[in-house]
Amino acid sequence: MLKLLFIVGSLRKDSFNLQLAQAAAKYLDGKVEVKFLDYKDVPFFNQDIEFPAPPAVMAVRKEVFAADGIWIFSPEYNHYFPGVLKNLLDWLSRPISATEGNVLGGKPVALSGITPGMSGTCMAQDHLVTLLSFLNMKIMNVPRLIIPNALTQLDEAGKLRLTTSEPFLKAQAASFVKFVEGNN
Ligand SMILES: Cc1cc2nc3c(=O)[nH]c(=O)nc-3n(C[C@H](O)[C@H](O)[C@H](O)COP(=O)(O)O)c2cc1C
Repeated sequence: MLKLLFIVGSLRKDSFNLQLAQAAAKYLDGKVEVKFLDYKDVPFFNQDIEFPAPPAVMAVRKEVFAADGIWIFSPEYNHYFPGVLKNLLDWLSRPISATEGNVLGGKPVALSGITPGMSGTCMAQDHLVTLLSFLNMKIMNVPRLIIPNALTQLDEAGKLRLTTSEPFLKAQAASFVKFVEGNN
């Protein structure tokens, strides 16, 4: 079964982006294997501690290596993507050893994001596209998912309940499965 790894660019417990990723995982249930990357213990990147890689870094590299595709769900912080995600990608961009490359090159990747504001993470995603292209990942440019005004799609308890955005998330999930299958 195809293996997708979800990376959420927010460490917040009630993150809208986490909830968006959980909704996508629900649509994909039974069709592909979905894992969420736990990277909260990855330290700040520092070349002094790069080799040997800290255990938390080795663990995330293993997860990325094993995945057929990566789906990033990220918020926008100050028109950029959050520093925790940049830190993770910096670690993942580095070679595993003197003879091995990094785990990102050639990997298919999809981008989605949701925000209470108007931008819908559009600018953060554009910055991610620049970085992920440089890292030689295979970006699914169409469709990307940009969801503004998150507060209009909440239930009574304040949890995300997609209404207008639901068909777009489902369509992106279906497209990404095809995109990743085409890469294998
Ligand atoms: C430091 C910081 C900067 C932010 N900058 C933006 C921004 O540029 N654009 C935007 O739409 N929302 C911005 N926000 C609001 C976030 O979109 C909002 O907090 C969102 O809920 C974060 O995503 P999450 O729910 O997945 O944690 C910012 C929030 C923080 C904490």
